Amino acid sequence: MIDTIDSLQQSLLAAGYLAGRDLATIIFLALKMGKPLFLEGEAGVGKTEVAKTLSTMLGAKLIRLQCYEGLDVRTAVYDWAYARQILHLRMLEATGAGRAEMARELYSREFLLARPLLQAIDPAANDAARPVLLIDEIDRADEEFESFLLELLSDFQITIPELGTIRAAQPPVVVVTSNRTREVHDALKRRCLYHWIDYPPFETEYQIVLLKSPGISAQLAVQVTRVVQELRRADLFKPPGVAETLDWAAALMTIGATEVDEAVINDTLGVLLKYQDDAQRVQGALTRDLAKRAHGAR
Ligand SMILES: Nc1ncnc2c1ncn2[C@@H]1O[C@H](COP(=O)(O)OP(=O)(O)OP(=O)(O)O)[C@@H](O)[C@H]1O
Ligand SMILES: [Mg+2]
Repeated sequence: MIDTIDSLQQSLLAAGYLAGRDLATIIFLALKMGKPLFLEGEAGVGKTEVAKTLSTMLGAKLIRLQCYEGLDVRTAVYDWAYARQILHLRMLEATGAGRAEMARELYSREFLLARPLLQAIDPAANDAARPVLLIDEIDRADEEFESFLLELLSDFQITIPELGTIRAAQPPVVVVTSNRTREVHDALKRRCLYHWIDYPPFETEYQIVLLKSPGISAQLAVQVTRVVQELRRADLFKPPGVAETLDWAAALMTIGATEVDEAVINDTLGVLLKYQDDAQRVQGALTRDLAKRAHGAR
């Protein structure tokens, strides 16, 4: 049972997510108040993972909508199965059906294709457990889509002109994420509980590395975390996220490195930094410095 923030924090941890007290509190409130959770933060800090972990933790279905420019209602909400409708229409014509009957038959649930948003609220598609609806990277979608979402997140209902209104029996657990490539409207944010996920402090990130890198030695985990934390202080275009930290730990284990030194950092820099300018900045003097820091120099 999740009846306290502490127990939620523990359940998240058991499902593989290390949440600080602030994040755990906001997730707790979102669950208890039935409000969408809006998570913003840099790339790779664990936004998407919150939704995945919640679905594991609650034993609920994860319904994911990946946003992109041009995302429309037909992809996000519902569509009609045109080809099957036409076949059925031919059949109806052959039997001499009238117009009203045709419309009723053709625009029925049988030919309705439920896309993620409809799936998430459709009582017919969901059993007792509320599904987790992840609306990922909302900042990539157009503003029109955002307005549509605004309505959906207020009432948890969708009106299909030919069919009527479909309303959620109980609101899904909604997680909306943004990388803040643009500001999302206040109106949308106002309907949600908001949390900015920052890069984790050293101790938290070290614990995440231990949690997510089976078989890693405490020594290597410390060194990996120190280097990444230090890199984030350098003036880089794209500082590494937690995703890169975990990839790097895995990479070092894959090549059998037991320690972080200058050569290892240079050889594996492509796991941490994905921009040539950033890599160039770091190579040379900075790598030497990072290697020293990995071993505890300040
Ligand atoms: N607090 C955490 N506890 C456990 N794992 C974490 C945590 N934070 C990040 N991770 C891990 O880091 C990786 C990246 O997380 P995720 O994909 O959720 O990031 P994101 O913020 O959605 O990134 P992007 O903006 O690139 O989509 C995942 O493998 C996730 O398991
Ligand atoms: Mg993500």
